[in-house]
Amino acid sequence: MRLSDTPLITADTIRKRTAELAKRISRDYAGKELLVIIVLKGGAFFGADLIRRLDLEVTVDFLRAKSYGKTRSTGAVDFLLLPDQPITDRHVLVVEDILDTGLTAQAILAHLAAAGPASVAVCALLDKPARRQTPIKGDYVAITIDNHFVVGYGLDCEERMRHLPDIWIAEEK
Ligand code: IMP
Ligand code: MG
Repeated sequence: MRLSDTPLITADTIRKRTAELAKRISRDYAGKELLVIIVLKGGAFFGADLIRRLDLEVTVDFLRAKSYGKTRSTGAVDFLLLPDQPITDRHVLVVEDILDTGLTAQAILAHLAAAGPASVAVCALLDKPARRQTPIKGDYVAITIDNHFVVGYGLDCEERMRHLPDIWIAEEK
């Protein structure tokens, strides 16, 4: 596997889009308390940067989901970590690294809905709508990309390259 010669998305662009998104979220939830649930591991990097720009009362929690059978439309998801904060009657924002097939987000939303939140919205750093297998739409998407496999800023290739500040296209060698 090799990386593209130049980043697909630079750290500077990520920073600007994150600031814009944080402004929108702060406006939309003005006067409300927000429970932000960051989806590990990939969402930790974007999530940490996003929440520090929110002008709201925020509680932060984490969730970890492992998806199986991404090639099949069943897309079974196991939860390896669940939030310990109560969900019932809360305004919940789920923060993900990327919406790809949408199967992970769908399973997370179904799980949270069962706990009776006041509202649930999905925020993603990246969106690859071309790959979608579910009707899931991101409520807050920082950057929409074409159908590339990307790494960096939380996104991994077999657990490597999450730490890169920019986002790169990973190409088969
Ligand atoms: P989904 O359930 O297909 O929407 O995929 C969700 C997960 O697949 C993401 O949280 C990522 O961990 C992984 N994923 C999808 N596309 C990419 C990519 O381009 N690079 C790295 N990981 C990806
Ligand atoms: Mg991954």
